[in-house]
Amino acid sequence: MSDLYSRVVNSPPGRFVAPRVGLPQPAKLERQAPGTPVVAGAVLSGAAPGGRLDKQVERLLGEIGAPRPEKSDSPVKALVFDATGIADSTELVELQRFFHPNVKRVQTSGRVVVLGTPPAGLPARAAAAQRALEGFTRSLGKEIGRGIAVQLVYVAEGAEREVESTLRFLLSPRSAYVSGQVIEVGAAVAKTPAIDWSQPLDGKIALVTGASRGIGAAIATTLHRDGAGLVLLDVPALAGDLAKVATELDAETIELDITEEDAPGQIADRLSGGVDIVVHNAGVTRDRTIAKMPEDRWTSLMEINLSSEERIDDELLERDLLRENGRIVCVSSMSGVAGNSGQTNYATSKAGVIGMVEALAPELAERKATINAVAPGFIETQMTAAMPIPIREAGRRMNSMSQGGLPVDVAETIAWFASPASTGVNGNVVRVCGQSLLGA
Ligand SMILES: NC(=O)c1ccc[n+]([C@@H]2O[C@H](COP(=O)([O-])OP(=O)(O)OC[C@H]3O[C@@H](n4cnc5c(N)ncnc54)[C@H](O)[C@@H]3O)[C@@H](O)[C@H]2O)c1
Repeated sequence: MSDLYSRVVNSPPGRFVAPRVGLPQPAKLERQAPGTPVVAGAVLSGAAPGGRLDKQVERLLGEIGAPRPEKSDSPVKALVFDATGIADSTELVELQRFFHPNVKRVQTSGRVVVLGTPPAGLPARAAAAQRALEGFTRSLGKEIGRGIAVQLVYVAEGAEREVESTLRFLLSPRSAYVSGQVIEVGAAVAKTPAIDWSQPLDGKIALVTGASRGIGAAIATTLHRDGAGLVLLDVPALAGDLAKVATELDAETIELDITEEDAPGQIADRLSGGVDIVVHNAGVTRDRTIAKMPEDRWTSLMEINLSSEERIDDELLERDLLRENGRIVCVSSMSGVAGNSGQTNYATSKAGVIGMVEALAPELAERKATINAVAPGFIETQMTAAMPIPIREAGRRMNSMSQGGLPVDVAETIAWFASPASTGVNGNVVRVCGQSLLGA
């Protein structure tokens, strides 16, 4: 799982040679460590005239104690630009006016966040101008380099107060491998509670499937860090590994194959006191081109990656076990967004997961809950370590960060969705892919 290339090009001789011969130079991404501030440096904010989020941004920067830059040319850790005031294409020049003089000031592993208004429902000119922000942020993410992540957050009118958890996530090292994303923050599905940001999941119960290893174990560890009580599930064959993770995290376990006919009932019985967070992480690949794909290979994968998740959700919702301000978080994949040769079955299932999120989001909102998905790109796990070297190296380098992500990057994104303060984040699919060159 070690990224030898990154180590070589970041050694003193590598740092000298790599840029001279045009090799990618992955920056060392900063990740969340205990006790570190939300932003480890100065934050510069700006706005196009007529913006409506300046108060929220000011208040947040004050709350997290983010200093302003000392001088007009001193380095900054993050840039935040409120573009909600842009109502016509001629006003998009405000982007150039803010970013042209400031973009080089952003430090390695820094952050850029542009705030906009969802285009749907706006008058045509305003809608076009707001939609144009996507082209700007996605391009900036590709040209800025040095491990700096760039996002666009559309904040619905009236949902200004709901933006805090999203800004905290996107400005912090928790979002190290999330870049080039477009996130929507809408009306709160439930009352936003007062929150202790160091233990946002205190008192919450979370179910994590496929939790004995890889991304699932990282999700469990991260939710535990944030204060959640855990119920961890994996197949009986991995009961030993599951028990190890559970002992460390003081968690309960369910040894169960989620495709068993009575699995939804068994899970619901174990969660009969209610559950706050359900993370559908269990998943498999069974790669073959469609010409070589036997039916059982197709159906066994579809059962694990999609159909069983649907049945578990149905059971939990029918029995009303998802508590108010509850969360369902699904794990899709870049393959489900962009498609991948040899993965028609896997990509179908993971695109189906996105469909499930989109279809259930309004129903979940009515129940005062949310459903969202992460779509990981190349993540350094046992699965990707087993890939042939050329495919593995292509996967690692073909993104704006020029490196693979870590399981914790997926877990941090799930923890943001899971936060009780993310009550305006519903129906989103956020890629954790370092802004992969594949897919939109
Ligand atoms: N690793 C990556 O780069 C990557 C990229 C995109 C998406 N994903 C997705 O992330 C999730 C986790 O992947 P990972 O890389 O940690 O894989 P992994 O194989 O290490 O972990 C998957 C876990 O799911 C469990 N599982 C499988 N079938 C099950 C069943 N029928 N019932 C209960 N549990 C079952 C496995 O036992 C395992 O513990 C998967 O949904 C995967 O598709 C991974």
